[in-house]
Amino acid sequence: MSAIVSIDNLTKTYDGGFQALKGVTLDIEEGEILSLLGPNGAGKTTLISIICGITNPSTGRVTVGGHDIISDFRAARRLLGLVPQEINLQPLERVMNTVRFTRGLFGQRPDDAYLEKILTQLSLWDKRDAQINALSGGMKRRVLIAKALSHNPRVLFLDEPTAGVDVELRKDMWETVRELQAEGVTIILTTHYIEEAEAMSDRIGVIAKGELMLVEEKTALMNRMGQKRMRIDLQVPLPEIPSSLAQYNLSHGETPSSLVYDYDAKGERTGITRLLNDLSAAGIVLRDVQTSQSSLEDIFVSLVEDRP
Ligand SMILES: Nc1ncnc2c1ncn2[C@@H]1O[C@H](COP(=O)(O)OP(=O)(O)OP(=O)(O)O)[C@@H](O)[C@H]1O
Ligand SMILES: [Mg+2]
Repeated sequence: MSAIVSIDNLTKTYDGGFQALKGVTLDIEEGEILSLLGPNGAGKTTLISIICGITNPSTGRVTVGGHDIISDFRAARRLLGLVPQEINLQPLERVMNTVRFTRGLFGQRPDDAYLEKILTQLSLWDKRDAQINALSGGMKRRVLIAKALSHNPRVLFLDEPTAGVDVELRKDMWETVRELQAEGVTIILTTHYIEEAEAMSDRIGVIAKGELMLVEEKTALMNRMGQKRMRIDLQVPLPEIPSSLAQYNLSHGETPSSLVYDYDAKGERTGITRLLNDLSAAGIVLRDVQTSQSSLEDIFVSLVEDRP
């Protein structure tokens, strides 16, 4: 795979001095679905707006399909579709017309057959002559997607596409996104729903306070989630862990009266039974045992909150 969007040390300081992006570097691979997670104000929309040419960067460089987004703006923009976070439709426009118009704005020849295909895929074809103000919120979001797809983009940005959308429609949207990926479209979506990132993505990125804290293959993250921790409270403090237990990767908890054992919950053998036997053989008496699991949510919260 090769990068279709390449972001190099991008910063953004808004007028007034607020630094919304602090040097983001990221390659987005052709054909992948990348989810960006991050709390409110993290800089997700700012990042997307810069790539799509709506906001100017302060420093750094972005290319799309090899085209610089500043010096070669038109060529870069033509490859991009954007579904914005805010619904920004003309209330009196009709569905098919607004999608046709957007395609024209990108200098593409009319192609109603293609637009019919998109509207059908988004279950909007029977609404093609409806006015925007007669549509529900979820349908309006679909119109935004149709507009973003109207000029056959190779990269589609979806900025919180499922905010305020019901469960069924959310699942439909996931399905649509997967179909687009199967057609070769690269997809970047932002979301606050961790389960959405889990369900959809090939890779997951976490942004907090203008920094990209992590980008990782979803499967690698999920394997990390398989890590469980067992905390063992002891009757008597154990100043040193006996060498007979060296094979277990044990460490002390906050005090010498507790031990911590990390293990892979997805592995066939967790080693727990053997460990408990060996503890007993070493004459160590237990008071209590607890286990906990690290989840994507834990990883996310620790990345996002452990910052000054
Ligand atoms: N035009 C602007 N002028 C000044 N500050 C701005 C502007 N736009 C955004 N910001 C600030 O930049 C920061 C990042 O905003 P951004 O919209 O990129 O966050 P976000 O990650 O998309 O958040 P959300 O999840 O709420 O959509 C915020 O602190 C915001 O207040
Ligand atoms: Mg946003």
